[in-house]
Amino acid sequence: MDFTIAVLPGDGIGPEIIEQAIAVLENIGRLYNHEFRFKEYLAGGAAIDRVNEPLPQSTVDGCLKSDSVLLGAVGGPKWDHLSGEKRPEKALMGLRGGLGLYANIRPAVLHEALREACPLREELIGSGINICVVRELIGGIYFGERGRRQGDFGEEAYDTEIYSVKEVRRIARIAFEIAKQRNQHVTNIDKANVLESSRLWRSVVIETAQEYPDIQLDHMYVDNASMQLIRNPQQFDVIVTTNMFGDILSDEASMLTGSIGMLPSASLGEEKLGMYEPIHGSAPDIAGQDIANPIGTILSAAMMLRHSFGLENEAKSIENAVTKVLAQGYRTKDIMSSNMQLVGCKEMGRLIAAYLV
Ligand code: IPM
Ligand code: MG
Repeated sequence: MDFTIAVLPGDGIGPEIIEQAIAVLENIGRLYNHEFRFKEYLAGGAAIDRVNEPLPQSTVDGCLKSDSVLLGAVGGPKWDHLSGEKRPEKALMGLRGGLGLYANIRPAVLHEALREACPLREELIGSGINICVVRELIGGIYFGERGRRQGDFGEEAYDTEIYSVKEVRRIARIAFEIAKQRNQHVTNIDKANVLESSRLWRSVVIETAQEYPDIQLDHMYVDNASMQLIRNPQQFDVIVTTNMFGDILSDEASMLTGSIGMLPSASLGEEKLGMYEPIHGSAPDIAGQDIANPIGTILSAAMMLRHSFGLENEAKSIENAVTKVLAQGYRTKDIMSSNMQLVGCKEMGRLIAAYLV
């Protein structure tokens, strides 16, 4: 088969991790007889530097013409002085919102070989950690009205959290559908003891659960959830939560897998087009040193094969290669532990590509 992939390397470590994901996909193409055509577009700070806006129309058009989008990371201190609409992160919001990618799926799996890289005690890890965070991606406080105004104490700023029944129902359905393929358990995370938007959110999740009588549904306040993730991560299967809580909790969950560099994500909507990116940022402090961990991006490419192209065997091939390379003791700096073999970003990508079968 034949696929066009829009590639948005972005900033910081973005280009180097994307390079490794492309190398892995090219090898998959050779092994399984597919043609992947990669078309590169500007996004984030890289776009600001070249064309003075974070998300040029040509990038949006390029994505819409493609079968799928692979994104590295955007942002960095160089662009931190810019105001909201002009910041690199605007590219992410524009793509997520513009492409209608409301469901962000972030699987946090601790590889057996990485137990030592997990900061939790052995007894807390137990039989392993395997959590799927389902984050609402185009609503809530990220997309609500915001601004500045004069208040009683001078200048003030505000952001608003708004959720509609429709937005909650569709993300809840995604979580329940994913739970069907896993351990039939969804934990809804909100702040319904304080926020009205969370009270609506929770009631819609409960109502939607009636369509899924076989799935166990629990509820947790976000503060408790952030504690429970550390205290007893085994209690979680699928987590469904709002845009901002999902942002925060997925970073926390990623650490349970050894490093934020390990976590992939898929952003999906009603249309066929999906976007795939690691959950980490552009890590400008380590950019260009060949020490970044490309695994989150490589696993994102595997998610692309599975969710956008229906290539389950090929996706598994990548995931198995990652497992094997880790089992052989190869580690990037962020997941390094004693007696392991330290490798750079390029070498990690090369090894995974070489282990594909
Ligand atoms: C993420 C990132 C983004 C977000 C940033 C870079 C805007 O943290 O994908 O989790 O907050 O969604
Ligand atoms: Mg984040």
